[in-house]
Amino acid sequence: MDYVIKADGLNISYGRDEPIITDANISVKAHEFVFITGKSGSGKSTIIKSLYGDLMPNRGELNVCGVDFKNISSSKLNILRRYLGVVFQDYKLIDEWTVEQNVMLPLIIGGFSRSVCIKQAHKLLKHVKLLHKVNKYPFELSGGEQQRVAMARALAHNPVLILADEPTGNLDSYSSEVIWNLLKGAKEHLGTTILVVTHNIPATLGMDYKHFFLEGGVLNEVS
Ligand SMILES: Nc1ncnc2c1ncn2[C@@H]1O[C@H](COP(=O)(O)OP(=O)(O)OP(=O)(O)O)[C@@H](O)[C@H]1O
Ligand SMILES: [Mg+2]
Repeated sequence: MDYVIKADGLNISYGRDEPIITDANISVKAHEFVFITGKSGSGKSTIIKSLYGDLMPNRGELNVCGVDFKNISSSKLNILRRYLGVVFQDYKLIDEWTVEQNVMLPLIIGGFSRSVCIKQAHKLLKHVKLLHKVNKYPFELSGGEQQRVAMARALAHNPVLILADEPTGNLDSYSSEVIWNLLKGAKEHLGTTILVVTHNIPATLGMDYKHFFLEGGVLNEVS
């Protein structure tokens, strides 16, 4: 079976604190669209952090994009991150870089030529309706505009897997629809696998999806 995420018996904690996630099992196949919901503080962002290797599980097995987390080296982690597009809950844009440069970041890391980087960044910024802001800095944008730049950056290098933490949390219904359509388009046309943490699964997504609900450290699939 072709799994993009396979987690068995995951336990995740911060330092010596009580585990936030206990015995989580997640299987996500290639090209699936997956939602994780749960109350504030239930551990949704914690799961995302562990999937991109920012927070190592203290127990259990984890494999993301074919990369096994057991004794993972920093070079393996860097390889994994090239397969990922991550939208952070707090965006994590680079303050000193323009919108254009921020979106180009994963392409620069990927070693693409400057002209390819610019062309691709502009294409994505057009999708998120921010082409007119290419030369602005993050502090000159609204929260929702920053969130859309973060989405453009996450998609720029055609990642295998997108991990998006509340990607529409700061957006009105029109901009939310733009984001959902972008994610749907990535899945349908590029075969991207998508995992989204959200408080609101769109009523009109118009495609099959998996839904996990996180409560009390336990992740259950909702059927
Ligand atoms: N760096 C940290 N150190 C210690 N505890 C943390 C840290 N980050 C988060 N926590 C704790 O882990 C728990 C889960 O936090 P997390 O951010 O994963 O929740 P969440 O489900 O994403 O919530 P929200 O919907 O508000 O974003 C919370 O109790 C939080 O206080
Ligand atoms: Mg969170």
